[in-house]
Amino acid sequence: MEQEQKKKILSLIQPTNTPTIGNYFGAMCNWIKMQEEFDCTYGIADLHSLTVRQDPVKLRAQIKESYALLIASGLDPERSTLFVQSHNPNHSELAWLLNCYTQFGELSRMTQFKDKSAKHPDNINAGLFTYPVLMAADILLYQADMVPVGVDQMQHLELARNIVQRFNGVYGDVFTMPEGYLTKATAKVMSLQDPTKKMSKSDENVNASVSVLDDRDTIIRKFKRAVTDSETEVCAREGKDGIINLMSIYGGATGKSFEEIEAEFKGRGYGDFKLAVGEAVADKLAPMQEEYKRLSADRSYIETCMKQGAEKAYKVSRKTLQKVQKKVGFVVF
Ligand code: TYM
Repeated sequence: MEQEQKKKILSLIQPTNTPTIGNYFGAMCNWIKMQEEFDCTYGIADLHSLTVRQDPVKLRAQIKESYALLIASGLDPERSTLFVQSHNPNHSELAWLLNCYTQFGELSRMTQFKDKSAKHPDNINAGLFTYPVLMAADILLYQADMVPVGVDQMQHLELARNIVQRFNGVYGDVFTMPEGYLTKATAKVMSLQDPTKKMSKSDENVNASVSVLDDRDTIIRKFKRAVTDSETEVCAREGKDGIINLMSIYGGATGKSFEEIEAEFKGRGYGDFKLAVGEAVADKLAPMQEEYKRLSADRSYIETCMKQGAEKAYKVSRKTLQKVQKKVGFVVF
C-alpha cells in the first residue's frame, strides 16, 4: 500500500563505454539518493545504443558491466527495479505507438540528433532520428513522476512531455506527466580538456573524461592535466569555465558549496586544487570500484538480478501498454 503512494522515478543509461564521472555526478548520484524515498526503476538502455554501430562482443560485455555498476554504486535490486531495456519488449511496442503521435518536425529539432548525425554522417539511421520517442516510451511505460537526468537529456524529456499532452488530450488521462530532476551544479560536467564541451563517454581524447573505473593514479593524473586558465585564483568567476567545472566536480565529490571551496583554496594555486579534486573523486569512487570488483566475480548473481529486474519491469509496464492499446482501438485480450 505504502509502495503505491510513493512517487515513481525512472531513468536509464546507455551501455556504450564505461560511465564517466559526468554520468555519475550528473545522474547516478541522484538515482542513489532517490532510492531512499521513492519507487525507482533504473535501466540499461541497450536498444538506444544501437543507433551507433556497436561491436556485439563489446556491447554484451558493456551491458553486463553497466548493470553490475548500478548495483555497485549502491542501487539495491530488491528495493528498486534494475533492468536491461531489451529484456522488456514493451519498450519497443510502445515506442512504435508513440511514433504515430510524434511529428517529424519535432524530431528534426532535437539537437542531439543534429550533433550525432554530424558525427556519424555515414550512418544517419532512422533509429537515431526516432531515439527520443523510444526514450519517451521508457518514461511513460512506468508512469514516472520524475526523471533524474543531466541537462543534455532535457530536450528529450520535453518531447516526452509534449507527447503526453497530445496523447492525453485525445484519449484522457493515460500517461503521468513526467518532470525532469537535476542537480544544478553537476547537471553538465564538462570535458577536462575543453571545458566548453560536455564530458562524454565517447570522447576520443582519453584525458578529456574520467571513467568511474579509472584507478586512483589515472584519476589524479587526468585532473592534474585538466585545462584551466592562466590565472591562479580558485573562484567561480565568468570566463573561468575550467575552474568552475573542477569546482562543480569537487562539490559533487565532497558536498562542499562554491563558497566553501573558494575559502578552502584561497591563496593556494591550481596545482593544489587539482590534486585535491583528483583525490576527492578517487575517494568517492573507491567503494563502488571495490564492490564492482567483488560483483564481477559473481556472474550468476548479476544474471539472477537481471532476470528478476526484467520480470518486475515487464509486469508494471505491460499494464500501461495494454491501457494504451485499448485506448487506440486495438483488440486486447
Ligand atoms: P547517457 O547514457 O548519455 O547518460 C546517462 C545519464 O548521464 C547524464 N550525463 C551527464 N550528466 C552531467 N554531465 C555530463 N557530462 C553527462 N553526460 C551524461 C545524462 O544526462 C543521463 O541522465 N538517452 C539517455 C538514456 C535514456 C534515458 C531514458 C534517460 C534512455 N531512456 C529514459 C532517462 C529516461 C542517454 O543517452 O543517457
